[in-house]
Amino acid sequence: MFKFEIKARDAAGRIGRLEVNGKKIETPAIMPVVNPKQLIVTPKELRKMGFHIIITNSYIIYKDEELRQKALEMGIHKLLDYDGIIEVDSGSFQLMRYGGVEVTNREIIEFQHKIGVDIGTFLDIPTVPDAPREKAEEDLRITLERAKEAEEIKQVPMNATVQGSTYLDLRTYAAKKLSEMNFEIHPIGAVVPLMESYRYRELVDVVVASKLGLRPDRPVHLFGAGHPMIFALAVAMGIDLFDSASYALYAKDDRYLTPEGTKHLSELEYFPCSCPVCSRYTPQELKEMPKEKRVKMLALHNLWVIREEINRVKQAIKEGELWRLVDERSRSHPKLFSAYKRLLEYRDYLEENEPITKSSAFFKVSEEIMGTPIVWRAKQRAERVKQKFSETINHPIFGEIPKYLSLSYPFAQSEGEEDFTIEKPKKNEAKLYIQAVAEYQFGEGAAEAFKDAFVELSRKTGMPRQIKAKGKHLATFRAEDGLLTLGIEGAKRVHQILPYPRMRVVVNEDAEPFARKGKNVFAKFVIDADENIRPYDEVLVVNKNDELLATGQTLLSGKELKIFQQGLAVKVRRGIEK
Ligand code: GUN
Ligand code: ZN
Repeated sequence: MFKFEIKARDAAGRIGRLEVNGKKIETPAIMPVVNPKQLIVTPKELRKMGFHIIITNSYIIYKDEELRQKALEMGIHKLLDYDGIIEVDSGSFQLMRYGGVEVTNREIIEFQHKIGVDIGTFLDIPTVPDAPREKAEEDLRITLERAKEAEEIKQVPMNATVQGSTYLDLRTYAAKKLSEMNFEIHPIGAVVPLMESYRYRELVDVVVASKLGLRPDRPVHLFGAGHPMIFALAVAMGIDLFDSASYALYAKDDRYLTPEGTKHLSELEYFPCSCPVCSRYTPQELKEMPKEKRVKMLALHNLWVIREEINRVKQAIKEGELWRLVDERSRSHPKLFSAYKRLLEYRDYLEENEPITKSSAFFKVSEEIMGTPIVWRAKQRAERVKQKFSETINHPIFGEIPKYLSLSYPFAQSEGEEDFTIEKPKKNEAKLYIQAVAEYQFGEGAAEAFKDAFVELSRKTGMPRQIKAKGKHLATFRAEDGLLTLGIEGAKRVHQILPYPRMRVVVNEDAEPFARKGKNVFAKFVIDADENIRPYDEVLVVNKNDELLATGQTLLSGKELKIFQQGLAVKVRRGIEK
């Protein structure tokens, strides 16, 4: 049993809920790599530290006579003494590193099933970066053949890894092919060599090329990525899962992870961390410890840092601050900075995924952050609105914008070096603000729905609040972001004005009575949607005859609405009874 649904999002990143065999975790998540032959930190300890999913290697177990027998007898959960989610790799990594493995695709898949893994991996062929194109094509051909074989025999949720080396068209092609098949998770493979040599810019190319071909409703794992310095960037690209062997490998070399990079224990005079290890010991004390204990302590610290950074990323998603975190992290290494700038070049991909509103203000903390999708979407839409509402003001961050957008996100909810004051609407202009926002938020023509609107201004703040016409409620002007929430009458009007399929989320008959009663719409009932819908947009829920059923806020983009089968699609605010 496998489920994945999205709970919140920012940039192209998301907080998801993943359920495997009744065990639930939240993503983005990191799977510590457990070497069954050498447990530096035991799986039980990992569970206590809050790691509810781990990854180990079924090939290592398979190759070792004793481990293999034990695993077959008692199952992998007992073998490792871990009752969380256990994912296993297949030996593909060994294939990449050492050129061969002594197991077939079928054998390793069947073995994974026999030992009771929660998530398996078939024997994909990782092609290293810069391999000749023919080699990448041939490897991919075999990987796809093995995927087919895996699909036929698989009995547990399974990874299907995207390969294609550094050939971006091959990555997209592989992603598309694997997406059409019955798999649960899509790792992006053979990226370890890129990360080891700090080729983060190319990592961005490879990840985005893969994401462009992948279905958006399956979690994506960045195979071999476990350094906290890239979590924010990777999540912003749409990565949901990481695995880390580095916490242990680095510890063995006296290396100490930080979200800004790696330190050698010998260079540390102070600990920039207050985890249980760093609170208890000074760097000097750690240096003087016997090797075995020191490795354990460093491994524990590394794990705490990894956990902390994942939590920081998740919190940033909740607050709509992920781009700022990426911007900040990118300052720790020039190659990371370069990768960040590269990512910003993928405008269409980013814009499609970028939420329409956020709970925190836009901070202009750098020139680069002006290249994030919130900014150019706002500018682009403002440019469009300017055709109809030509009176402008000069905004210190966004430049010349229509005056009547000045209360709305991100124009009012932004902070730069210069202060600016937002002029309160004059009574006789209040309607123009609403019309301009309608045009900005819902698109060309939407202003018409508010042509006879009466706008209540708050006595306390002077800001627009309720919007009415002929005694009926049309919409609410949200104090937090200056955007509109539609009332029933407003939704009816917008529905009438905007031609199908604009702003529409089309649901099937089963969902109709529930939507009409104001109940939320779940993704599995959605049959079509406007591809221009963006996450957190206010949308119109309709049936297949385009009869209006409800209005509410969607969590998904238009493309995602068409594909997702699990989780919430529209948080319905108001249902429209027949
Ligand atoms: N571990 C690191 N990279 C890879 C990869 O490309 N495929 C698999 N299966 N495991 C990996
Ligand atoms: Zn620490």
